[in-house]
Amino acid sequence: MRILVTDSYEAMSREAAKILAGQIWLWPDTVLGLATGSTPVGMYRELVRLHRDEGLDFSQVTSFNLDEYVGLGREDDQSYQAFMHKQLFDQVNIDVAKTHVPNGKAEDIGAECERYERSIREAGGIDLQVLGIGRNAHIGFNEPDDHFARQTHRVALKESTIRANSRFFEREADVPRYAISMGIGTILKARRILLLANGREKAQAVYDAVLGDITPEHPASILQFHPQAMLILDREAASLLPNV
Ligand code: GLP
Repeated sequence: MRILVTDSYEAMSREAAKILAGQIWLWPDTVLGLATGSTPVGMYRELVRLHRDEGLDFSQVTSFNLDEYVGLGREDDQSYQAFMHKQLFDQVNIDVAKTHVPNGKAEDIGAECERYERSIREAGGIDLQVLGIGRNAHIGFNEPDDHFARQTHRVALKESTIRANSRFFEREADVPRYAISMGIGTILKARRILLLANGREKAQAVYDAVLGDITPEHPASILQFHPQAMLILDREAASLLPNV
């Protein structure tokens, strides 16, 4: 694992955007894995700036998002699909037909999971996967469990995640209880992985990911197996790591 510690959220976001921009400049038809949550918002802002000011061209990029709430779709403000349109898709020249977010409104969620996994395979796999991390070290919506999920699947969200994500909803009761998420296997097949974390409340999760036992109780710890995983942190998120 490579670890880069930056001085601020803005610096973390700029470094992350640089890596994505480099990937797109070198391989214009790259396949990106994208993440939601508050962590990557600054990175998307910087990518939009690079598109506007430096001509970063998204026209051939394909993207697959990590996850979506079951029951929410594009028309729901809190859906991850709406988030992606607002933060990135509507502000750059990406071809919306090449963007993919699991369909949280599918009638048959099992079939949707299989379809999603298949379309990632058919696109040739993910070149660069962006991740945030939950306070309990979840990635995507892969919650602490007794096994690592191999493929895109339906997840029951933990109470702690529902509480943490309730800040995006009017009431905690409005937070969906289920989600569709890429599996740990799906994520690990990406050729490169870039995990971002900022803030003191992520420090323990970062410690568990980097130095903890590799266990499904700390899903991000599996990244220790990946040959091309990089973490970009701010000082607070890195504060429990020795010598960084
Ligand atoms: C959600 C998302 C994750 C994200 C995590 C952290 O549960 N499914 O992909 O990494 O929250 O969110 P935040 O970046 O807002 O702390």
